[in-house]
Amino acid sequence: MSERLVVIGSQWGDEGKGKITDYFACRADMVIRYQGGNNAGHTVAFDGNKYSLQSIPSGVFNPKTVNVMGNGMVVNPESVVAELQKLHDRGINDYQLYISDRAAMVMPWHADLDGAYEAQKGGKLIGTTKKGIGPTYSDKYARTGLRMGDLLEPEYFAERLKAALEVKNMELKMLNLPEYDFDTVYNRYMELAKILGPMITDTSALINEAIKSDKKILFEGAQGMMLCCDHGTYPFVTSSSPSSAGVCVGAGVAPKWVDNVLGVAKAYCTRVGEGPFPTELFDERAHEIRERGHEYGTVTGRPRRVGWFDAVVARYTGMLAGIDNWALMLFDVLSGLDKVMICTGYECDGEILQAPPATINKLARCKPVLIEMEGWKEDITGAKSFDELPEAAKNYVKKIEELTGIPVGIISVGPDRTQTITVSEKLQKF
Ligand code: IMP
Repeated sequence: MSERLVVIGSQWGDEGKGKITDYFACRADMVIRYQGGNNAGHTVAFDGNKYSLQSIPSGVFNPKTVNVMGNGMVVNPESVVAELQKLHDRGINDYQLYISDRAAMVMPWHADLDGAYEAQKGGKLIGTTKKGIGPTYSDKYARTGLRMGDLLEPEYFAERLKAALEVKNMELKMLNLPEYDFDTVYNRYMELAKILGPMITDTSALINEAIKSDKKILFEGAQGMMLCCDHGTYPFVTSSSPSSAGVCVGAGVAPKWVDNVLGVAKAYCTRVGEGPFPTELFDERAHEIRERGHEYGTVTGRPRRVGWFDAVVARYTGMLAGIDNWALMLFDVLSGLDKVMICTGYECDGEILQAPPATINKLARCKPVLIEMEGWKEDITGAKSFDELPEAAKNYVKKIEELTGIPVGIISVGPDRTQTITVSEKLQKF
């Protein structure tokens, strides 16, 4: 039977999933993205080169790995073609990539509407990536959207496009945005279909076949659990389910196959965009961590907000996603601080909360209950095992395990593949 691993972000995205997925992708037979779209920005570094991926799975660098963009994604054909071109320009031509015929398709007006909806919110911006993610998912659930498989049937595509344009052009007009002309969009998408058409297929059939065979399968989550549309800090969330639960619907696999979940967590917390962030730091330490951790968005370049590790969030996402192990990332970034803190609960309206509240209104009133721990001065970027870490760093890891009840399976002490301490035997074997 196959071996499966789900890698998810357990905070607000940007936890370092790129490095971890790449670490496992080079050993996997199949790598699957199951939610989100080109709002994600995964940086993969190897052999002294750095690559940035948006919607293409991280296994694309290994010619033997089958890469799948699942039905739960929102696929922007224009952006996928541009991403493939960029890879081509850097000599990455030999890959296997399939796109689900059921995946929602991002149309040119979705990005326009994303921007316009944000502008309408006055001061209450979500701070989206403006890639049209929310509007595409809205159309999917309103059952008016187009899907990647439509491109394979030009007459049907034309019919769907006409119907969509009738409504969308009215909406665009109301918002004082330029309208779209049928022929222009149709012709451009048919051109894109020439390139992507051969990759579009029933991907859940492919995945389930791989599960039946003895394949190693990696499900690559994008964003993070606190950006989950159901469980995150709504409405400051994305429009999909970055949880392990998203795998079932978004890849077309049964729940019984989702059984090995690796929660990627930074040793501290960051967040881009708006929304309450209880452990946020505003002083010199935030600046220090931001610079040391290169905490600037891969897609938008925005500086990330920085805060202490939040065990309330970790316990919550650990429970919801059934996280078996943590991959503790950017651990080296904390070296040099005199003291490090961890949030163990939220104080709110005279109560101590053990889980995030449902409304951001209440979350904004939450004050972190912090424990202070000794920092460590040593450079840990060369540590090869847990035992080689300074005592204070070991205590920090143990505290996270104790507060969350989940073992730390991986500790990342630098950006390179080699700077990865894999403690968990199960993960060592994957
Ligand atoms: P959207 O996904 O573009 O609709 O943006 C919604 C929220 O999710 C915003 O706060 C974005 O900054 C955030 N977001 C979306 N994708 C990512 C990601 O890959 N990493 C971190 N934050 C993200």
